[in-house]
Amino acid sequence: MSDLKNIGMNCIMNTYSRFPLVITKGEGCYVWDENGKKYLDFAAGIAVNSLGYGHVELIAAIEKQAKTLIHISNLYWTEPQVTLAEKLVENSSFDKVFFCNSGAEAVEGSIKLAKKYAAKHHPERFEIISMKDSFHGRTIGALSLTGQTKYQKGLAPLLSGVSFVEYNNYEALAAAVNEKTCAVILEPVQGEGGIHPADKEYMRQVRKLCYERDIALIFDEIQSGAGRTGKFFAFEHYEVSPDIATLAKGLAGGVPIGAVLAKDCFADAFAPGDHASTFGGNPVAASAANVVLTQIFENGLLEQAQTVGQYLGEQLKLIQSKYPGLIIDSRGLGLMRAIELTQPALPIINKCIRNGLLLVAAGSNVIRFVPPLIISKLHIDECMEILSAALSVK
Ligand SMILES: Cc1ncc(COP(=O)(O)O)c(C=O)c1O
Repeated sequence: MSDLKNIGMNCIMNTYSRFPLVITKGEGCYVWDENGKKYLDFAAGIAVNSLGYGHVELIAAIEKQAKTLIHISNLYWTEPQVTLAEKLVENSSFDKVFFCNSGAEAVEGSIKLAKKYAAKHHPERFEIISMKDSFHGRTIGALSLTGQTKYQKGLAPLLSGVSFVEYNNYEALAAAVNEKTCAVILEPVQGEGGIHPADKEYMRQVRKLCYERDIALIFDEIQSGAGRTGKFFAFEHYEVSPDIATLAKGLAGGVPIGAVLAKDCFADAFAPGDHASTFGGNPVAASAANVVLTQIFENGLLEQAQTVGQYLGEQLKLIQSKYPGLIIDSRGLGLMRAIELTQPALPIINKCIRNGLLLVAAGSNVIRFVPPLIISKLHIDECMEILSAALSVK
């Protein structure tokens, strides 16, 4: 490994347990390291690079926009941002969008919007109910809603008025709701918590409860959205829709972006000056996202994600049946899947990396599969071959 790691360790804050790899380029579903070694990428920047690497239209749009107008303040209108908002609204149950730059920022925006709605309609309400094992980001607000204490150590006091209930347990949620509850937030498929899809009946009951009590229902679709599960939003699998949703990660194919989407009655709680972002909906990021949405909605990428996502699920079930002592579960939706092991995931992931396959964990015993949406069945076969070899070695 080059000096880069040592230089980096000297001058970059020590917040990541990085793999000892320097990645230098990517093409399609593969990346290369500094020594020219090639890796099939089933991590995709942690569910980000939806169009893979070197996507011609994506690059062309970014280049064209960068040459025209890289940035301008949100004090002015820009065509890429308006087009993106229009596409998101046309293809969803939402009426308005707020743009930001990351997942955590989108969650922050959703918290503020829910609180503003409550301040307007139910001034006594300020509490938020979130889920155990959830993940919503690393800013103080988003972290306060994250139901995993390991991320919160040493940071108390966090946002007050937040409680956590068991995911997929409607009775626990119903018992926790009180006259001060202003919002309920959940991931339709818990990502960092180990790839756990919600149950259909649970989602229906949660939606009904929040509707009846006029509590803002927020779905965090930062990892599960933008086509990852074979629907644009994972909640479409459940035939329910929230009042507010968050998007980020795959939305602009690797260019930083985040979005808060809401129905008008909630979106109306924001007035000029209530929320803002210098870079949010920046012309380059919005142009990139417009290409991703064109691929998803007009060029068959959603159908492709559905088909290969199902194949990935079948292949992971096959692997599970081959290694019953090692794999206790395989689960997920579309191209957001995982296997749960009886042992730590990291040694297996490291073996796969050595054999040219990038994977990422989701908790200590879970290996996650979140490849680019452009992945083919042949890539999945290649992934299974390397994974199988890693599982066979004692
Ligand atoms: C469901 C969910 N919400 C929020 C976040 C935070 O996103 P970001 O890292 O872009 O701030 C993540 C990131 O993994 C996530 O999976």
